[in-house]
Amino acid sequence: SLPNKVTIIEVGPRDGLQNEKRNVATEHKLRYIKGLQKAGVKEMELTSFVSPKWVPQMADAADIMTSVEKIGRQFVLTPNARGMENAIAAGAEHVAVFVGVSSTFNQKNINKTTDQAVEQLAEPIQQLLSKGIFVRACISTAFYCPYEGKQAIEDVIHLCRTFVEMGVQELSVADTIGKASPLESYTLFSLLKDQFPNTLITAHFHDTEKMALANIFAAMQAGVDRFDSSAGGLGGCPFAPGATGNVATEQVVHMLHRMSIETGIDENVLQQTIKEIRPYVSM
Ligand code: HMG
Ligand code: MG
Repeated sequence: SLPNKVTIIEVGPRDGLQNEKRNVATEHKLRYIKGLQKAGVKEMELTSFVSPKWVPQMADAADIMTSVEKIGRQFVLTPNARGMENAIAAGAEHVAVFVGVSSTFNQKNINKTTDQAVEQLAEPIQQLLSKGIFVRACISTAFYCPYEGKQAIEDVIHLCRTFVEMGVQELSVADTIGKASPLESYTLFSLLKDQFPNTLITAHFHDTEKMALANIFAAMQAGVDRFDSSAGGLGGCPFAPGATGNVATEQVVHMLHRMSIETGIDENVLQQTIKEIRPYVSM
């Protein structure tokens, strides 16, 4: 059966903009975020506190954080304790950490193996949780890795379990390069819903092979009612060759509304917001 209501976690300001080659001015980013909030988005990844040498586009993370209104869950992405400290100093109350299943991917993305990445996050995550901060763990390359290919489902579950045991409130499980099929989506998300009944399970699809909407439908059949998406379909990971944009928020919302599934998002305001950012990005 399908959900009556779905939560959209808008990741355009982070996953979308991080992949833009041209620098997008902070004021345009802020207008994009404001427009998305006005459209009714209640959960969003605003920016990331990563090394500006690795991802120059996110160098204005602190400015973004201090300038936006905190409506609902406003996440910032952080790779390490340093990022978390900066995020908290800027007022973050919702933090996303990220690790891939694939060690090769992690080495390219964060210069660590999977085990090293998990190990260096364990203690800082406990500190976040003890401060009452909401922690979301983003699990990259949960289906395919651009370097290693298909990932074993046991490895995906094992990594997810590690974070669940640390006490994170949410897992956002990602098809980083948009290669999963609806059958793979259904299989993995059924297993995750079954294994982790007390953790929010979110699906994060990139749309490289145009299967993201089908994958969302399949994940809904597996019981998932939370989806990451990016307004305008912006996005991609600079360290995952072949990763194109995230599934477009406007397409997800349109499909859901056509199926009488509520999102709380106003499609007209959303379209207007996309129109306003378009001149400044490669859309
Ligand atoms: P490193 O070079 O191994 O680390 O990078 P380091 O500790 O040697 O630090 C290098 C420099 O960065 C130092 O500065 C540090 O101080 C600084 P220097 O002394 O040379 O001047 N630094 C930082 N600066 C700001 N904020 C920080 C921070 N940490 C260190 N937090 C590191 C390791 C993790 C920092 C680097 O690899 C990095 O920033 N990687 C981020 C990559 C990234 O943002 N990828 C995209 C996000 S993940 C994604 O998109 C996937 C997702 O959407 C799901 C999916 O679709 O799969 C979530
Ligand atoms: Mg992504």
